Amino acid sequence: MYYNDDVKRAAEAVGSRFGSIPAQAVGLVSGTGLGGIASLLAERREMATADIPGFPRSTAPSHAGVLALGHIQSRPVVLLSGRLHLYEGHSPRDVAYGVRLLAGLGVKTLILTNAAGALDPHFPAGGLMRVTDHINLTGRNPLLGPNEDGAGPRFPDMSRAYSPRLGALADAAALKLGLRLERGVYAGVLGPSLETPAETRMLRLLGADAVGMSTVTEVIAARHLGLDVLALSCLTNLNLPDCMAETTLEAVIATAKQAEGDLTRLLTSVIPEF
Ligand code: HPA
Repeated sequence: MYYNDDVKRAAEAVGSRFGSIPAQAVGLVSGTGLGGIASLLAERREMATADIPGFPRSTAPSHAGVLALGHIQSRPVVLLSGRLHLYEGHSPRDVAYGVRLLAGLGVKTLILTNAAGALDPHFPAGGLMRVTDHINLTGRNPLLGPNEDGAGPRFPDMSRAYSPRLGALADAAALKLGLRLERGVYAGVLGPSLETPAETRMLRLLGADAVGMSTVTEVIAARHLGLDVLALSCLTNLNLPDCMAETTLEAVIATAKQAEGDLTRLLTSVIPEF
């Protein structure tokens, strides 16, 4: 779906590298510490996002900008690793750029993965959570400004931002694998500072079960474009307001790496069901 010239130009650059993207391709975005997802892709071919005209540059050390095409259990997958974050100073439009490109390549189903802090005290560190809904606390929105009518409506509905159908498939796959998959509300914050105990208590009172610095901007753009979304969080740290432990990027990445095995098993099992 080439809804504007920028997306068309970028999609053509991808097409000239990979040939045409197969119909039914699933879009996948890997989060912090989850770059190993790329190794799931059979017959993987890669290109640097820096070679895609218009693709904004990432500044995050843990996010190499790569677009990969391959298969997971014979299902074509386009993987974006190296997402952009608002906290890097990127505009919400730039943060949503990758999702818009995936839509431009014909992707209809999008899986977003992320690292998040658990707020529900029952959630285990190193566990996985399926996002059922979100609270956008970034104060930003990728749809600010004139609406691109060719992409989607001015006021996109967000009543089912996370596809109940894809969610049910993920729950069934987790059950079959004997994996615990929590369900909950993801609070998207701007960052880059982590939350104080008072902010953590507030997020819990607002109804959030996990908190992170990504995903919500991309989901808004994806829903605007009519994509079906599944989002999976690796719970890299526990945020309990009455006994806050220090959180470091190193610890977040180390725990994400530990959870990555479960996440890749879940993805391998669920993607062919789409
Ligand atoms: N807060 C915000 N973002 C995060 C966290 C957190 O505790 N853990 C991983 N990403």
